[in-house]
Amino acid sequence: MKCYAKDLVVRNADDEVIVSVDELAVDTGGTTSISGPSGSGKTTLLYCLSGLIKPDEGVVNWEEHNVTTMAGNKLNKFRRENIGFIFQSPFLFDELDPLSNVTIHSAFNTNLSKEAVNEKAKELLDLFKVPLKGRKTASVLSGGEKQRLSMARGLVNNPKIILADEPTASLDKKNSKILMDCLLSYHKDYSPTLVVVSHDSSVLSRFTNNLSLNQRREADA
Ligand SMILES: Nc1ncnc2c1ncn2[C@@H]1O[C@H](COP(=O)(O)OP(=O)(O)O)[C@@H](O)[C@H]1O
Ligand SMILES: [Mg+2]
Repeated sequence: MKCYAKDLVVRNADDEVIVSVDELAVDTGGTTSISGPSGSGKTTLLYCLSGLIKPDEGVVNWEEHNVTTMAGNKLNKFRRENIGFIFQSPFLFDELDPLSNVTIHSAFNTNLSKEAVNEKAKELLDLFKVPLKGRKTASVLSGGEKQRLSMARGLVNNPKIILADEPTASLDKKNSKILMDCLLSYHKDYSPTLVVVSHDSSVLSRFTNNLSLNQRREADA
């Protein structure tokens, strides 16, 4: 799904500008990274793209869907059906096994049958190199495996859009590379539109399109 965001401005309670983006365009199935130091507004921008935060100015369109003005059930439905989020930390249910951690959220998506979700979850866990055998609970997985399990959970509904907020931030170099290999391999197979926020140069170097929030704000000054 194609993204076009224009003239975005987000202000904080003191009316200070925390995000200012002239233009962000990503083709259907395209990729982009968003970089910038801590506090430069990367997470806020990602939330604007998902419709979770309404900008003070500007517009975010996913094809003909304007998530800047969309609200309530319509926005929830759009996000549920189209957007997969990957977070910085795994946020797993430690008591549940890896497969249940992936499938539990899909219980709220009535578009997919239980069998289809289970099949998809197993496929993703295999693609993301998360071991199932002998793992009764997610708590015994390594840090890298937990983060890839969390990524599988974000993608189990076949989202047309993936928004990833510093997905490698809690990982060492080796596991960071494994996760990015898995994510880009998934992108090659399924071609969702992919937006990855990061300040890690080894992650950013894997994208040809980049929006640097730091430069934008310096240019504004
Ligand atoms: N809920 C909030 N209310 C007020 N200010 C916020 C809120 N969330 C973030 N900020 C501020 O917005 C700016 C950008 O934050 P954030 O988007 O989290 O940056 P980044 O993800 O690049 O580290 C920071 O100055 C931060 O303090
Ligand atoms: Mg952030």
